[in-house]
Amino acid sequence: MPSSLDRRSFVRASLVAGVAGAVGQAPAVRAAGVRPVVVASSNGNRHKNGGTQTTVALAFERIAKGEDVLDALIAGVNLCELDPADDSVGYGGLPNADGVVQLDASVMHGPRRRAGAVACLEGVRTPSLVAKAVMEQTDHHLLVGAGAQLFARQMGFAVEADLNTENSRKKWLDWKRRIDPEHYLDPAQREVAADAAREAMIAHGRLDPLHVYGTINCNGVSARGEVCGVTTTSGLAWKIPGRVGDSPILGAGLWVDGEVGAAGSTGRGEANLYNLSSHLIVENLRRGMSCLDAGMDALRRIRANTVEKRLRNAQGNPAFYVNFYVVDAKGGFAGVSMYGTYKGRKVEYALCTEHGPETRPVEALIPEHP
Ligand code: GLY
Repeated sequence: MPSSLDRRSFVRASLVAGVAGAVGQAPAVRAAGVRPVVVASSNGNRHKNGGTQTTVALAFERIAKGEDVLDALIAGVNLCELDPADDSVGYGGLPNADGVVQLDASVMHGPRRRAGAVACLEGVRTPSLVAKAVMEQTDHHLLVGAGAQLFARQMGFAVEADLNTENSRKKWLDWKRRIDPEHYLDPAQREVAADAAREAMIAHGRLDPLHVYGTINCNGVSARGEVCGVTTTSGLAWKIPGRVGDSPILGAGLWVDGEVGAAGSTGRGEANLYNLSSHLIVENLRRGMSCLDAGMDALRRIRANTVEKRLRNAQGNPAFYVNFYVVDAKGGFAGVSMYGTYKGRKVEYALCTEHGPETRPVEALIPEHP
């Protein structure tokens, strides 16, 4: 709950200022009969960037006031992108194997049927806004690397030499010392060593087990049934430079169908690239599934397609976490995950309705990661 608003005034502000319709517009809640909702990964109800509101609270408030849904969601995730305390996204996101912060993001606007994305973008704290500029200022859906940075510069974004913070740089140094004591390992050993270094850092409390893949996804629906979504990330910690995850790939880390709903993800991006999970979930919604059933179906698909031994645990289940945040155009929602707990951490998601922001446990396919 925003500290400046108690629950009653939050509800009143939402209902009077927004859900009842912005000035000059018909009462929106009656127009489509939808109760607005915003869902996000759990960092969406944690970081405030020095302000009073979290991602889901800010996004919901703006949607309730009648602002464009995608603009509201992006304003929400900007809080996490800009907050150095969130080392999974934007400024201070955990860097790649060379110590360089490379960011991915995508946005989709349901009513306008438009989308934009950037991948491997360096130097811009808010990749979600660059993704929106790709959507609005170009005929394309995805710009990458140096081209994405040049485009951002041309669009007036500040381009910085380095997005590391002391936190992200120190964690990278810790990882580098563990993985590269002799400056060289062959590729097979390097993969094993990189995994071992990540695991050791988690075990030593140096790395949040749910931040290895970083990311915030945030999806929302307005009282008019307008659905949008955004996903933004610094990606897999210590990734090979140039690695692109699921976040900027439409259908993988984000999919929105303006008539149906939205789904996005955090966790192992490669699982979503292989299964186009977010698109699968929204197509499930189109076929009449609930948000919960649609998400669970994608988790089962991922489990079935995870056949490589290195990716399975002793029980034969995926050895990684992957979560989905789902809304439908009628205001239904769900937060689902492969595991209910992961390496001792409860897996949660963020939500905001007219009752205010909250953090809830996910619905899990498998109760506990062993
Ligand atoms: N899901 C974020 C990533 O894999 O990059």
